[in-house]
Amino acid sequence: MRERIGILTGGGDCPGLNTVIRAVVKCASKRGWDTIGFLDGYEGLLDPLRYKALDYKEMDALLFTGGTILGTSNKGRFAAKTGHGEAASIPGEILDAARANVRKLGLRALVCVGGDGSLSIAQQLFEQGVPVIGVPKTIDNDLEATVLTFGFDSAVACATDALDRLRTTAQSHDRVMVLEVMGRYAGWIATHAGISGGGDVILIPEIPFRYEAVCAKVLEREREGKHFTLVVAAEGAREQGKDFVTSGAAEKDREARLGGIGAVVAGEIHARTGKETRVCVLGHLQRGGAPTSFDRLLCTRFGARAVQLVAEERYGHMVALRPPDTVAVKISEAVGRLRTVPPAGDIVQTARALGISFGD
Ligand code: F6P
Repeated sequence: MRERIGILTGGGDCPGLNTVIRAVVKCASKRGWDTIGFLDGYEGLLDPLRYKALDYKEMDALLFTGGTILGTSNKGRFAAKTGHGEAASIPGEILDAARANVRKLGLRALVCVGGDGSLSIAQQLFEQGVPVIGVPKTIDNDLEATVLTFGFDSAVACATDALDRLRTTAQSHDRVMVLEVMGRYAGWIATHAGISGGGDVILIPEIPFRYEAVCAKVLEREREGKHFTLVVAAEGAREQGKDFVTSGAAEKDREARLGGIGAVVAGEIHARTGKETRVCVLGHLQRGGAPTSFDRLLCTRFGARAVQLVAEERYGHMVALRPPDTVAVKISEAVGRLRTVPPAGDIVQTARALGISFGD
């Protein structure tokens, strides 16, 4: 009987999930292994078992197709994330049931593709004896132990394109445009897109802001004869001494939904400067569509390395990018603490050198 491995995608979706699935299935088939894909994240591992066989001959279009053909979930019986890198314990009977199903299916290994929450679940399964290999995903790029997660570059490309478009309309109308992007606890998308898209003010969770400083930048530009301003705000950005702006309360198995900071910032800028101000919430556009060529390559490298780690039986490890190579790191080193934008780091300093304000 041919050997087989399993794969699942967990947490919020992002461009590149299908690209990883394709790479894993193709590389596994080259070794003579079959691959099955569990449906709807970790839920598919539980009774009633839900999975499908993945045929390497049908993987071609997955290279550039957004989303995940396996479905995903960031809530449910496995919900492991309680916020800011803290992992909740999964009930023992859930872990036992998943382990029993992995054994029943005769899987050599289970490849778990996800961010901090999903990889925390993978770690708990590993501690219960399930042979797991992790692949780091999240548009937020906030996972430890890897220089980059896949999906991030695609999200930054989307946000940069949005800024290019907002710039021309802002310029035409002499307006302030506020672009709200994702980034719950980490402002990587806002910072990278803000610099790449020529933003004037970047607001991120790591650097709580003051409206006086934000408006000072708008007025400085007015004095310089630049009558428009681009502000990029991560959804997790907050005014000094204030909490996150949320659009939905926390539920039993999931964190509060963030959203709305862009509108709040736009309202304050208008009230304080008199400038006409508009807001654009980029939302899930950042998570949809085709991965960039950078992400296609990264996902393909991650998928191929994951299969190699299965062959080497390096269970409990995750693939990671440590340029110029992909490497294996312990999943336990990647989860439970988020990687945030260092306020004194090179990227923030680069932005400041260009005169970009962080509102502090
Ligand atoms: O973790 C990625 C992320 O994009 C966050 O930035 C955002 O808060 C969250 O997902 C939103 O997820 P959803 O809308 O799927 O609940």
